Amino acid sequence: MDAEAQKRAAAARAVEYVQPGMRLGLGTGSTAKHFVDLLGERVRAGLKVVGVPTSEATHAQAKACGIALTTLDETPELDLTIDGADEVAPDFSLIKGGGGALLREKIVASASSRMIVIVDAGKWVDKLGAFALPIEVVPFGFGATLRAIEKTIGSVQSLGPMKLRQTKEGHPFVTDGGHWIVDAALGRIDDPRALAHALSAVPGVMEHGLFIDLASVVIIGGPDGARTVERPASR
Ligand code: A5P
Repeated sequence: MDAEAQKRAAAARAVEYVQPGMRLGLGTGSTAKHFVDLLGERVRAGLKVVGVPTSEATHAQAKACGIALTTLDETPELDLTIDGADEVAPDFSLIKGGGGALLREKIVASASSRMIVIVDAGKWVDKLGAFALPIEVVPFGFGATLRAIEKTIGSVQSLGPMKLRQTKEGHPFVTDGGHWIVDAALGRIDDPRALAHALSAVPGVMEHGLFIDLASVVIIGGPDGARTVERPASR
């Protein structure tokens, strides 16, 4: 089974958690895309749910699939969010934001009673940090914010190279919220909770890709199909 088939297997297992009438958070990325696709099949077969997309891309896909959409203004509490991740550690802390949707993803996941994370086997890691940590920043004062981020990370753990994410044309990548993203290549993150807390306090940082205490179930698509892991004290 290649990575794409593993992602689809994880997405298919996640669809089994969806019950009629649920208010769903719809994630972003190539794995979440499989989920939205499979959910669309069930909706066209008669399942009634509403979804809040976590990006413009997911909004467009979900709409095309016929999934009824809502917003967090109309529907501030959701039953379940299903989303991908870039890394998942055994304590269910995550790195997200490889696709640039981390801010909306975190808002939507935080508004949900439960979050199911769907990944292929390569994303399950002993320790977070091999994947560069996305940090979403306001463009105003970028130089000063970058310095403050470096200082803050340095006060918690060892630093690594920081890169402003760029498009292939060499312009800053702009998120759906109009912000930029710094990718911090840290190698390993020893204390994700402490780093998350410290980064949240930096002015100019809109959000970072460390998701702590949000995921309650992780579905890992592997060569032999999907495996479900539940966090012991589920939210
Ligand atoms: C989007 O911003 C991300 O948080 C994605 O959920 C994450 O990057 C996983 O994406 P893939 O499923 O494409 O690997």
